[in-house]
Amino acid sequence: MEPVGKDHPVIRKAWDRLQELGGISDESGRLTRVFLSQGSRRAAEKLSAWMREDGLDVCHDALGNVRGRRHGAEGGLPLVLGSHYDTVIDAGRYDGALGIIAAMAALDLMATQGKAITRPVDVLGFADEEGVRFHATYLGSRACTGTLGPALMEVRDANGMTVADAIRSEGWHEGAQDIVYRKGEVAAYLEIHIEQGRVLEETGQPLGVVFSICGQTRGRVTLRGRTEHAGTTPMPLRRDALAAAAECVLAVEAHAAGNAPLVATVGKLDVRPGAGNAVPGEACFTLDIRHPDDESRQKAVAAIKEACASISGRRQVAMDFMIVQESAAVACDPEWTERLIDSANSIGLGDVPVLSSGAGHDAVVFSEVAPVAMLFVRCLGGLSHHPDESITREDLAVAVRAAAACIEKWNRQAHEG
Ligand code: GLV
Ligand code: MN
Ligand code: MN
Repeated sequence: MEPVGKDHPVIRKAWDRLQELGGISDESGRLTRVFLSQGSRRAAEKLSAWMREDGLDVCHDALGNVRGRRHGAEGGLPLVLGSHYDTVIDAGRYDGALGIIAAMAALDLMATQGKAITRPVDVLGFADEEGVRFHATYLGSRACTGTLGPALMEVRDANGMTVADAIRSEGWHEGAQDIVYRKGEVAAYLEIHIEQGRVLEETGQPLGVVFSICGQTRGRVTLRGRTEHAGTTPMPLRRDALAAAAECVLAVEAHAAGNAPLVATVGKLDVRPGAGNAVPGEACFTLDIRHPDDESRQKAVAAIKEACASISGRRQVAMDFMIVQESAAVACDPEWTERLIDSANSIGLGDVPVLSSGAGHDAVVFSEVAPVAMLFVRCLGGLSHHPDESITREDLAVAVRAAAACIEKWNRQAHEG
């Protein structure tokens, strides 16, 4: 059998697909694909076409989630592998995309090696994980687990459009069918993802497994002061919403800096009216607060809210502190994690690092309906959410081989069991 390295046809094809997908964008000159954008639709159509080319049974839902199924001769609960194809703004090519393309490649590899599958295996490409448009994350996988509830449907984007209206008016409705897995309907959910950290690089390992994924709170804070003439309003009389927001941003940073491993980020700030010669009357900023321990995260959210309220009070601006979404920390399934380690060992990898993830993943949502496990792939300098995000074709080959070995192992054990 041909060795499966970086030059194997399956790996070359997967690599080329990753590069091509990375060129499908909402903007020219940089990679950005947000929920329900035209770039996202083109990416979903491309993924569907590739899945069909690989002989999978393909469908999509109205959000643009796509699924390719390899039917098993004997039926049974599907093993689901997936990740997201939406991106951050000015993104790299691998965050999310790797998990979809590498999963397809694992099935492709098994097919080219004549390895039959007796149980169904599904590859899912989720339409939203980053949550850039609505600052509410996991909309794609939430729809696929039947947990996109009424509160999330009412969250609004920067133009005031709700998630529900966006799906209604911009969704992929032609030929759509619901893709929903309820508790007990999935054998397990596996996700292949770039590490987005430096541990694998530092330990010289191409792959790691994940034991837990951080919880996160996403919020939006709006401060309202008074818009006035920048030339005529004396400094002591101002109620400058942006100056108050600036103080809040520094308070958020200081709180996180003093409470490791807490991390807290203000990633977006909108100012109104946005004129150089007017005192800003309104400032709205996002909050992203994460901690491996849920109670510590909740305490941090309360402390940050109190700090922002005290700054707003002193500066006489009104504050609206809104929690957009909260996700609890998730523990990966020990049995499936062990299976991933065994699979990595079976292709010659020694001590596979066991890591915690500070990034959110679709596995968080699937953990509500199935055991989940994750395979991390080394990325250059740990850099992610950046156009220079980089992996090697060699590491892609190793990840695809390990995933294929895991699917094979499960298929065999399910059959025997
Ligand atoms: C997704 O990458 C996230 O962790 O925000
Ligand atoms: Mn991701
Ligand atoms: Mn990401």
